[in-house]
Amino acid sequence: MDLTALFKMSYGLYVVCADDGAQRAGCIVNTATQVTADPVQIMVAVHKDNVTTGVIERAGAFAVTVVDRTADMPYIGNFGFRSSDTYDKFGKYETRVSEVGAPYCPEHACALVACRLVETVDVGTHMLFIGEAEQIERLADTEPLTYAAYHSELKGKTPPKASSYQGQ
Ligand SMILES: Cc1cc2nc3c(=O)[nH]c(=O)nc-3n(C[C@H](O)[C@H](O)[C@H](O)COP(=O)(O)O)c2cc1C
Repeated sequence: MDLTALFKMSYGLYVVCADDGAQRAGCIVNTATQVTADPVQIMVAVHKDNVTTGVIERAGAFAVTVVDRTADMPYIGNFGFRSSDTYDKFGKYETRVSEVGAPYCPEHACALVACRLVETVDVGTHMLFIGEAEQIERLADTEPLTYAAYHSELKGKTPPKASSYQGQ
């Protein structure tokens, strides 16, 4: 199998956050997508070892923001290369609470979708969380950051817990 063929698949970048009452967590994912229109349902794939996974399961809700082209590597590193267990990812950025109780950071984001968790599917290394949207908002008039631009312009790397990781 030629795994480089998978580089042809298109993605955006998203920050998925949740709060279970005891802990706030969030992480970057490239694997988020709208799966139905009526009602609007969003799917995110989150690695089982990510702290965010347990927090989403306990909270029963999550917020997804669409990362925009103003995002820089410190912002992506904040959410994508650190652990919510040992570090407060919300300390450096303005943080708001969505209508489902999940936090989100409006900086470097152009849209918000906040969801109630309706289905969880175990796909091995990752959990698929499917949520029904209760709040959908435009946060800015900026363009979304594509995964391709993250690689070509920001020269960003793919960490091991990303669904698209292929080793070094
Ligand atoms: C560009 C990029 C894409 C990523 N994609 C995913 C993904 O699709 N799913 C996932 O579980 N983690 C993904 N990650 C990794 C998580 O963001 C990372 O493991 C994070 O530090 C987990 O934080 P947490 O332990 O506080 O939840 C990605 C990270 C980056 C930088």
